[in-house]
Amino acid sequence: MSRNDELLRAAENIRQNAYAPYSSYKVGAAILADNGKVYCGCNVENAAYPEGVCAEASAISVMVADGGRQIMAIAIAGPKGEQVTPCGGCRQKIREFANAETSITTGDGRDFNLDDLLPVSFGPENLK
Ligand code: THU
Repeated sequence: MSRNDELLRAAENIRQNAYAPYSSYKVGAAILADNGKVYCGCNVENAAYPEGVCAEASAISVMVADGGRQIMAIAIAGPKGEQVTPCGGCRQKIREFANAETSITTGDGRDFNLDDLLPVSFGPENLK
């Protein structure tokens, strides 16, 4: 199984723990960090709707809390067969810890680079 397929499998597993009683749209995300570890997260909704957290943001928080700082690849799993690409906000959140070539695998197994999904982006270098 390829690295990206393994990540997608991990995203599908964690997706089962998603808390999405309002949208019923469960999402899981799995990150391979440069330290070789895999960090997983799921969406966590809230009765005050805007307070919900996306799966990608959840996985990034887990990575950062463990000391990880670089996303080598990320996979995102939604309902079977549907292609879930990261929302706009999550593309920017991924950007903070990634580079143009960072691999993003969607639920239908398609692979993108971050630069495909967030071209001409603003990032940490702009503030140096
Ligand atoms: N969602 C994610 O977790 N990641 C995405 O990239 C797209 C959307 C979640 C947010 C919300 O809990 C549900 O999917 C429906 O929008």
